[in-house]
Amino acid sequence: MTDIFEAIQKTAKRIKKAIDVKDIGYSQQANASGETQLQLDIKCDMIIEEEFSQVASIHTIASEEKEKEMLLHEDGKYFIAYDPLDGSSLVDVNLSVGSIFGIYENAFGAKNMVASCYVVFGPRVEMVFAHNKTKLHLLQGEDFEFVKEIHLDEKGKLNAPGGTQKNWTPYHKEMIDGLFGEGYRLRYSGGMVPDLHQILLKGGGLFSYPATSDLPKGKLRKLFEVFPFAFIYATAGGEAIDGRVDLMELGYEHIHDTSPCFFGSKYEINRVKEVYARNT
Ligand code: F6P
Repeated sequence: MTDIFEAIQKTAKRIKKAIDVKDIGYSQQANASGETQLQLDIKCDMIIEEEFSQVASIHTIASEEKEKEMLLHEDGKYFIAYDPLDGSSLVDVNLSVGSIFGIYENAFGAKNMVASCYVVFGPRVEMVFAHNKTKLHLLQGEDFEFVKEIHLDEKGKLNAPGGTQKNWTPYHKEMIDGLFGEGYRLRYSGGMVPDLHQILLKGGGLFSYPATSDLPKGKLRKLFEVFPFAFIYATAGGEAIDGRVDLMELGYEHIHDTSPCFFGSKYEINRVKEVYARNT
């Protein structure tokens, strides 16, 4: 696992340099989810593929930017699904973005996840790696330095509600409004990595991306976004569900499958469970 951890650190330093360059035009290609790919997305994907190709323990990779999985080393045991630059369209308005990595043993699938990691590219570059514990590292010059372990409180103060509000169900809207009524503060940038990072580091709250009338299976991708963050939140003492079921209990059929998702501390997730049990 150390070799993977080190390879991710290398990719983070190279991606940081790629983000800093001003050419961020669109390519002519669309990714597997139908979004037009930024040249930067493609470049970050290439960087990760190059670094992971040099790690013998990695068997197969799957990228949010690639249609299919790619075999790297027959004898490796790890399967890594990654989103090279989540929220990349936020780069041109200079908001934070991130890379997400789900590390699976022997095959993809939540039940096989053994570690998970994300890197936030903001005013600083930070990396959160969850294995047995969830740990924060900060890029200082050329090296990542350990900062602290991350633990979620029982109840937080932040509310990050994703999806187009006019397409929410009435009970979802009532639940979100209810939290605001209790004093929760709105924090939503449109970048999953910085939004979930903020909730983690500020002790707790709720990030939601529900099923909506236009996206009945949600928007966020199981292997690249949902499972990795579910693992990180659970390891940090929080919870992650699809409304009713623990996200880590879900299967997947296709590598680009999506799921509604809710990440938070215990109090907010219990609220989601109550509301969704009554209405679904
Ligand atoms: O995966 C894409 C993404 O940009 C996430 O980073 C983010 O949480 C979400 O989409 C935002 O979606 P919306 O604009 O529909 O709230």
